[in-house]
Amino acid sequence: MLVSATEMLKKAKEGHYAVGQFNINNLEWTKSILQTAQELNSPVILGVSEGAGKYMTGFNTVAAMVKAMDQDLGITVPVALHLDHGTYDGCYKCIKAGFTSIMFDGSHYAIEENIEKTKELVAVAHAMGMSIEAEVGSIGGEEDGVVGMGECADPAECKQIADLGVDMLAAGIGNIHGKYPANWAGLSFETLDAIQQKTGVMPLVLHGGTGIPEDMIKKAISLGVAKINVNTECQLSFQEATRKYVEAGKDLEGKGFDPRKLLAPGAEAIKATVKTKMELFGSVGKA
Ligand code: 13P
Repeated sequence: MLVSATEMLKKAKEGHYAVGQFNINNLEWTKSILQTAQELNSPVILGVSEGAGKYMTGFNTVAAMVKAMDQDLGITVPVALHLDHGTYDGCYKCIKAGFTSIMFDGSHYAIEENIEKTKELVAVAHAMGMSIEAEVGSIGGEEDGVVGMGECADPAECKQIADLGVDMLAAGIGNIHGKYPANWAGLSFETLDAIQQKTGVMPLVLHGGTGIPEDMIKKAISLGVAKINVNTECQLSFQEATRKYVEAGKDLEGKGFDPRKLLAPGAEAIKATVKTKMELFGSVGKA
């Protein structure tokens, strides 16, 4: 059931668990995530970066595919179709395409410009019944060419953006997209605590979910994180399972070259990863 992310995140924040945002790349990814959410009776957010949207030929295609798949698979759990790290123009494209949620990442602008653009997009998104995420303090690492240095957000700025009426707030707390380097200092819980104190009931978003140790995830949830983004980990699971299939020569046996067979181990591996995350985040049975 396609919905905005507002209600599911409000419930998650109140219930002290987090909803997973899993980024999609193609039909197999989308199907694996939707089926797992349904099987576990969990709400879910499908994240689409601008790069992935382009890869799938455009946001219209993505929205049409997700809507049709939601229907054809008989999905009854709440599903939000969300633009991940959207630009100002990208947000408008997704609003038109029929997404149910957007993220405007204005973290690279001066705070005044971030506020101005976020405010405008909050009004437009809400008029369309969509939810909107904003960002303060850039997330480290690289995702689809968007590079962030990984600074910690200023809690006072977080409050300024939260007060604009966004539905969820991404704030840098030392998190990084992709694999964490061996010398990573870990999440700054001091920053997270200060942000939650300033922003109160606002559902906070933890980007860079791949590779964050379980105890840190649990602590982040206890300090107000209600949405956790995972992308790279599904890619690595898919890659590992596909590699095993090919290295075992299975693609050379019988009809093992059939794409439905060749992509099946990877799709199953994504399901297993999503299941592990939903269990860790506490969203199972919360649909
Ligand atoms: P990872 O790729 O590190 O899991 O990060 C995902 C993310 O934050 C998407 O916005």
